[in-house]
Amino acid sequence: MQTLSTLEVTVTTKKGFAHEIEVGLLAQSASISPKFLYDPLGSHLFTAITLLPEYYPTNTEKNIFSQHQAEITNAIGVGGTLIDLGAGNCQKAESFFNSLKPLSYLAIDFSAEYLEEAVKKLEGKYPHILMQCIGMDFSKQLLIPSAIATSKRIFFYPGSSIGNFLRPEALHLLSQIKSQGNAGGLLIGVDLMKEDSVLMAAYDDPLKVTAAFNLNILRSINLHLNSDFRVEQFRHRVKINHAENRVELYLEALEDLTVTWPGNSREFKKGELIHTENSHKYTIESIQQLLNDAGFEKTQIWTDPKNYFAVIYAQ
Ligand code: AVJ
Repeated sequence: MQTLSTLEVTVTTKKGFAHEIEVGLLAQSASISPKFLYDPLGSHLFTAITLLPEYYPTNTEKNIFSQHQAEITNAIGVGGTLIDLGAGNCQKAESFFNSLKPLSYLAIDFSAEYLEEAVKKLEGKYPHILMQCIGMDFSKQLLIPSAIATSKRIFFYPGSSIGNFLRPEALHLLSQIKSQGNAGGLLIGVDLMKEDSVLMAAYDDPLKVTAAFNLNILRSINLHLNSDFRVEQFRHRVKINHAENRVELYLEALEDLTVTWPGNSREFKKGELIHTENSHKYTIESIQQLLNDAGFEKTQIWTDPKNYFAVIYAQ
């Protein structure tokens, strides 16, 4: 496997992350970017979330993929380079290897460590597919290195990860995908708006796996910033924001406390919140509009019988 260096493809350095985190923590309404959820432990906890019966997106998407496999692969065609955005454990992409027959596979994830492990395992199983991986924060800029084949590129962005972004950011990312696709396309999974009870169960599960996933961001931040967050001083909170069509994750301070890091500190009052994630829910119309605005002219859409989730191939 070829591991492309992070510096080659992104201008974000470790110092850049510390600055970004500090700005979020010092804002009047504190926030931390959800990308910091995905350190190695966080990536494993996310995989555990996808196994929860209450977390419907992963299973629903998987069912759509298998129900409509023939139509989806027909729409995409074989060959080219499969570019997996937020590859994680690479399982979803792997399920397309036999039908899409990519010549090469490029796995991209914020967590390079977790990713390398996964891609190494895959290589042995598919010796005829050229495999490459990059640790990259594509939330601000997506730049596919020139070393990656310039033939047809199929971007794969499943799991409704697009839901983390506000509309302008999502539009920016989708436009960059469109402009680097070389007449290929984008296979994307998008979560659809649904009843509050289903959303609450999925994001505040009784086993508290999502709570652990959310709280773990504080440990991840301590490593990046050298801060002294104490996980036991916070709890997981979920809100549904109907005006913005999204689920919002927060960490709530359980007592008055002060967090300190080199050069600065922040006080939290009991009950004060740190915003850690937005998970936007779309309608078929709103995602189609977004894709059109990003330059995709043609969309083919598949959904499940409950209309919980949509899979779209956009060109
Ligand atoms: C990976 C962003 C799609 O929003 O459902 C799962 C992350 N957060 N449970 C989502 C997540 C809490 C997930 N995405």
